[in-house]
Amino acid sequence: MAPNNPRYNSIPAFHEKLLKSKRILAICGAGLSAASGLPTFRGAGGLWRNHEATSLATPAAFEDNPGLVWLFYAYRRHMALTAQPNAGHHALAALARKLPGGFLCLSQNVDGLHPRAGHPAEQLRLLHGSLFDIKCNEYCGWIQRDNFDDPFCPALAAASVDVNPGETLPLLDPGQPLAEIPRKEIPKCPNCTAGLQRPGVVWFYESLDEEMMSGVDRWIKDEPVDVVLVIGTSSQVYPAAGYAEKARGKNTSVVTVNLEPEGEVKLARKQDFVFAGDAAVLLPQLLEPIIGKPRRDGTYTP
Ligand code: APR
Repeated sequence: MAPNNPRYNSIPAFHEKLLKSKRILAICGAGLSAASGLPTFRGAGGLWRNHEATSLATPAAFEDNPGLVWLFYAYRRHMALTAQPNAGHHALAALARKLPGGFLCLSQNVDGLHPRAGHPAEQLRLLHGSLFDIKCNEYCGWIQRDNFDDPFCPALAAASVDVNPGETLPLLDPGQPLAEIPRKEIPKCPNCTAGLQRPGVVWFYESLDEEMMSGVDRWIKDEPVDVVLVIGTSSQVYPAAGYAEKARGKNTSVVTVNLEPEGEVKLARKQDFVFAGDAAVLLPQLLEPIIGKPRRDGTYTP
């Protein structure tokens, strides 16, 4: 689809489709939280100190150096707690409230911003878990939900330091050596006591929750999906990246909302839409026929 296609950035054409739609699926990624100040994984912002963010997100990395992996996640927990949900999260939460049976949001984001925007839990599937769930790394099944301790434990205090604007957090300065955090400083699983507590997120080489995935499949198959919103994701990680095509039927429009949607422009079919820009700016505009205008503070009437 060339940028001169009427469906490229055409909000009126999308509104026409939206108003005829009964079932909407959203698939969100890190770009949705970019306007809240949280870095994405790939491209600029994908490095944490001198580590690729994705190389720290594996069971092997945790096994090798749980202190380092925990520092990375403790920092992300602190950043996420300091951040606020943006207008995009609020618009999706408002859409969920307006369409209780007709909208399901799948999010790869673990930052807790969807729930904090008031997104109804039954219309939200956190595909990759949450930074605020803690579980046992030995798979004994122990899990603690909504742990907002910051710092998570005394050994990780360096990740919860705030600096003045323009200053670099000492933890993030690759020029400063990183203190080794010995294994024994990481809290043990209170259930089996053999395992260590770890972030309740899905790492590379791990599977998503099966029950959640079959629920999503059932929702998709139940009735045709009219619109799939693909928001702020590079669509490189499966199964999340496969849901748009899974939900595609004869009349489904796949709608890409991305700051840099080059690849998606090429893949789009004639019924699809592509919107280039910040999800936090675009989502309130795109969804306005259903959710109305936001209040002054960016939220919507509950
Ligand atoms: N608005 C919309 N899109 C944006 C914005 C923005 N303000 N800023 C960046 N983007 C887009 C980028 O162009 C990119 O396509 O968001 C996308 C972010 O891609 P990734 O960093 O790859 O994040 P994501 O797709 O969520 O990654 C998937 O990979 O590392 C794992 O588990 C991690 O959940 C994550 C998964």
